[in-house]
Amino acid sequence: MSKQRILSGVQPTGNLHLGNYLGAIRNWVEAQQQYDNYFCVVDLHAITVPHNPATLAADTYAIAALYLACGIDLSYSTIFVQSHVSAHSELAWLLNCITPLNWLERMIQFKEKAIKQGENVSVGLLDYPVLMAADILLYDADLVPVGEDQKQHIELTRDIAIRINDRFGRKDDPVLKLPKPLIRKEGARVMSLTDGTKKMSKSDPSEMSRIELLDPPEAIAKKIKRCKTDTVKGLEFDNPERPECHNLLNLYTILAQKSKEEVATECQEMGWGQFKPLLTETVTGAIAPIQAKYKEIASDKGYLESVLKEGKEKAEESANRILSRVKDALGFSHAL
Ligand code: TYM
Repeated sequence: MSKQRILSGVQPTGNLHLGNYLGAIRNWVEAQQQYDNYFCVVDLHAITVPHNPATLAADTYAIAALYLACGIDLSYSTIFVQSHVSAHSELAWLLNCITPLNWLERMIQFKEKAIKQGENVSVGLLDYPVLMAADILLYDADLVPVGEDQKQHIELTRDIAIRINDRFGRKDDPVLKLPKPLIRKEGARVMSLTDGTKKMSKSDPSEMSRIELLDPPEAIAKKIKRCKTDTVKGLEFDNPERPECHNLLNLYTILAQKSKEEVATECQEMGWGQFKPLLTETVTGAIAPIQAKYKEIASDKGYLESVLKEGKEKAEESANRILSRVKDALGFSHAL
């Protein structure tokens, strides 16, 4: 039996933070041997909010280098850049024409991001989930490993695929495969260091709210030292009055590779003065090997270019085949 197909991606807007790592990339790495994997850097998504053209290409390369540094292994996985495979934009257009506007207006992430953009909301921001659907559907992906915040977008992807299949496919020969989200409970929603009720996010104006994978140890120590806590002694999970406490214990549990029960017992008598240095040491220790590997990879641009060139070629094989399938189903003439 052939392996199930995985597709996922991250936007090159700023560096990856612990939420991206624990919600997505760590899970890609851990399961990659079981699946046939495609991981893209979604640079077309990065321009749905105002972006800096002077840094877009470098940021895109940096994310690809981080995928490798986190442990993506090219013998199981393909890494590529979304904009290098033009089928993504083309399928997005075809899907646009069958996606009802009100499906997009309902998207929670659009509503949240649109508020931040005020008058300047682009059509691209509204259309963002349709491009994401194209990313997934072009690879006949079975599973899409993401954090909790992307679940609604994958449900929309399924709805779009069902609509295409109903209108343009045959019952025994669907045009598009229906993907499922793959959301691992631990780490699916890492919260901000400055507010335990908000998710950790690249777009939070305060850098103190997130730990980035490339933060030097001193910055990590400073962020944890200053992060929001409370005045209660004894640390505990699952107390809705103490969201920060739950989040920090959760980070410690995952990165120290301990069980929740173990950590609950270990920390039940602890105060913040004792816990914060422990968390700092755990976070720094867990990401030190990633940082060392990143330095090595990022210093060899030729290598990274060859990885992305090969990735583009491999991605195109699948993407172009499925794009043709959709165009045939929709009745387009063939180019002569
Ligand atoms: P992006 O770039 O915002 O985030 C990348 C991945 O990180 C996860 N994530 C989190 N997980 C846990 N806690 C957090 N605080 C946290 N913040 C982010 C996200 O769920 C995601 O898995 N639309 C996507 C990118 C995308 C994509 C795709 C993903 C485009 N096309 C196709 C999968 C398949 C996004 O903006 O992710």
